[in-house]
Amino acid sequence: MILSPSMLSSDFANMETELKALEAAGLKWVHLDVMDGLFVPNITFGPPIIKAMRAKSGLFFDCHLMINDPGRYIGDFVDAGADLICVHAEACTHLERVCAQIAEAGAKPAVALNPHTPPEAIRYLLPQLFMVLVMSVNPGFGGQKFIPFCLDKVRDLKSMITAAGADTLIQIDGGVTLDNARELTEAGVDVLVSGSAFFKYPPYGERHKAFQDACE
Ligand code: DX5
Ligand code: ZN
Repeated sequence: MILSPSMLSSDFANMETELKALEAAGLKWVHLDVMDGLFVPNITFGPPIIKAMRAKSGLFFDCHLMINDPGRYIGDFVDAGADLICVHAEACTHLERVCAQIAEAGAKPAVALNPHTPPEAIRYLLPQLFMVLVMSVNPGFGGQKFIPFCLDKVRDLKSMITAAGADTLIQIDGGVTLDNARELTEAGVDVLVSGSAFFKYPPYGERHKAFQDACE
């Protein structure tokens, strides 16, 4: 299990300290939520902030773009230091092209699916996807409640990936807690994103371990 803490719930005035605390706590990934106020109702940050974070951190930058028509900005996010770029299926008219663009630019391509979007949307893309993100809340804000049907969706997606002989990772994002972490990883989740259930409970090393223990 990989835990990818979502910086959306971190202290934005002290991002350098937060990033360093994550590394010191043994985390390898960090989840960066980019929002444009159009695809989702909220606005966060973009490439310049990610670039500033990159200068302070060696973590794997897992960038979740909640923006319309993300193909316009792939080069900017890769130049800023994104290791993985995850775009929403619902935000791309030509999703295959955007995924190819991400790979060509040198980052790992991933696709996010809103809660209501069936896994079928990415079936034929699986061989070229490093990861699929299953949104388990409607994107836009931290601290929301997990939508229960997303567990079945993870199981469906896992069967689809196995049947395709692909090695695509499954990530879940939204309402992940110590209480549901285990059933999620048992259902096939490889990467857990956690914002509020992680950052609200320092020290991060202990919280990281609590998530790992919960999944055993
Ligand atoms: C929500 C974001 C999430 C958010 C999760 O749209 O994509 O990454 O930070 O926050 P929690 O873990 O609090 O639900
Ligand atoms: Zn996210």
